[in-house]
Amino acid sequence: MSSMIWGPIKPIGAGEHGRRLRPTLSWPHLIALGVGAIVGTGIYTLTGVGADRAGPAVILAFAIAGAVCACAALAYAELATLIPTAGSAYTYTYSVLGETLGWIVGWSLILEYSLACSTVAVGWSGYLVGWMQSAGIVLPEILLSGPHDGGIVNLPAVMVALAIAGLLIAGTRESATFNIILVIIKLMALTAFVLIALPAFQPENMTPFMPYGFASHVEGGSTRGVMAAAAIVFFAFYGFDAVATSAEEARNPGRDLTIGIVGSMAACTLIYIAVAVSAVGAVDFRALAGSSEPLALVLRTLDHPLAAWAIAMAALVALPSVILVMMYGQSRIFFVMARDGLLPRALSEVSPRTGSPVKITAITGVFVALVAGFFRLDEIAELANAGTLIAFISVAVCMMVLRKRAPDLKRVFSCPKPYFVGSLAVLGCLYLLFSLPSATLERFALWNVAGLAFYFLYGRSRSQLSVTGQAASEEGVPDDEEVLPHQ
Ligand code: ALA
Repeated sequence: MSSMIWGPIKPIGAGEHGRRLRPTLSWPHLIALGVGAIVGTGIYTLTGVGADRAGPAVILAFAIAGAVCACAALAYAELATLIPTAGSAYTYTYSVLGETLGWIVGWSLILEYSLACSTVAVGWSGYLVGWMQSAGIVLPEILLSGPHDGGIVNLPAVMVALAIAGLLIAGTRESATFNIILVIIKLMALTAFVLIALPAFQPENMTPFMPYGFASHVEGGSTRGVMAAAAIVFFAFYGFDAVATSAEEARNPGRDLTIGIVGSMAACTLIYIAVAVSAVGAVDFRALAGSSEPLALVLRTLDHPLAAWAIAMAALVALPSVILVMMYGQSRIFFVMARDGLLPRALSEVSPRTGSPVKITAITGVFVALVAGFFRLDEIAELANAGTLIAFISVAVCMMVLRKRAPDLKRVFSCPKPYFVGSLAVLGCLYLLFSLPSATLERFALWNVAGLAFYFLYGRSRSQLSVTGQAASEEGVPDDEEVLPHQ
């Protein structure tokens, strides 16, 4: 068990109705979980989309998105240690701001986790196709991309999504150990990339640094500007919240979650800046734009075909670990929402044989595969980002509300300068949200209208709150039930 990242979820007694997760994780597991979820398609693929939108200033875009995420991560760490139950932003909002807002955040988290899985599946497919082409293997084009790109379905993306869902359903023992190896592989690949590309840095590739200016705006039919790039490369940073999602399974939440969230976040920010500087310093940013495998492209351009092959291989082997962690996070969010009665309660049952919430994982897997098969990478990533930004805003607000409402509460981890950091997180996330293309914001609004309709027609009357008059997820809240009042 000690070598596992994900402990099996087991019913712990009749009194819990099989709806309680078991504490089996400690901080090395959580750092691996965090890095496993953070480093993925954001840096491997969206670096190219970011360069297209901002030019060399994609470096600045990474720094801005990283700074906003760092503020949100601090708020997450405080709440994750205060409310160490599964469900992350959904649970915090439910506990602090009440059921309706909790539902809205939970509904947004579905976008974050599910669409992040789909995005990574499409990114993985891009590296697979490039890798196969360089190996001389040709597959029918119509099975390699969705209708938006002249194909029928992105079959590799569908297959990888379903395979990961299958792994999670089958139980998590092997996949967890495997994940640690994958995390090492992708970090080694990025390090090798920097070591090869940075010496090829040419100052002229950096001018003009901001060819499309700073603010997000529409130019030549595309959304451009540093903030437009920041709004999409923001994708590269999240995943640390998957650590908070597993809070109920942490052995020592105070220490383990703090190290897991803040540590994995800080390490990834440094790596991304190094990779972005190396990529746009080595080749003209226009060459990266539009590539479905930009890091491999840089290495090929620099005449390192073997290294390009190796980095594509590393992406192919390692990106599925991101899908694994995010899909795991998604199933836990659904699990807690169902346990709270906002989704059908039957969905929160865990299998006594494998210890995983089978129904919910299967539903998530099919949804992720369908989106990955038929939609465009940047559009999926942007919608995932919109959902995540709402969750981050809510977490920062909850952190500040609790500081006001319960200032003397003993905090295992205290966010430094909470109102300043919390406000920066809220304002930064809002700025990123409104830097997304308007089509994304419209789709996001539609998603929320559908979510609220479901809530008022189904969840509201069936929730534990309305059935029992108190929140079902209180069962894991320590010390502070009375100071985490519901609406
Ligand atoms: N941060 C994760 C990635 O970049 C979701 O793939």
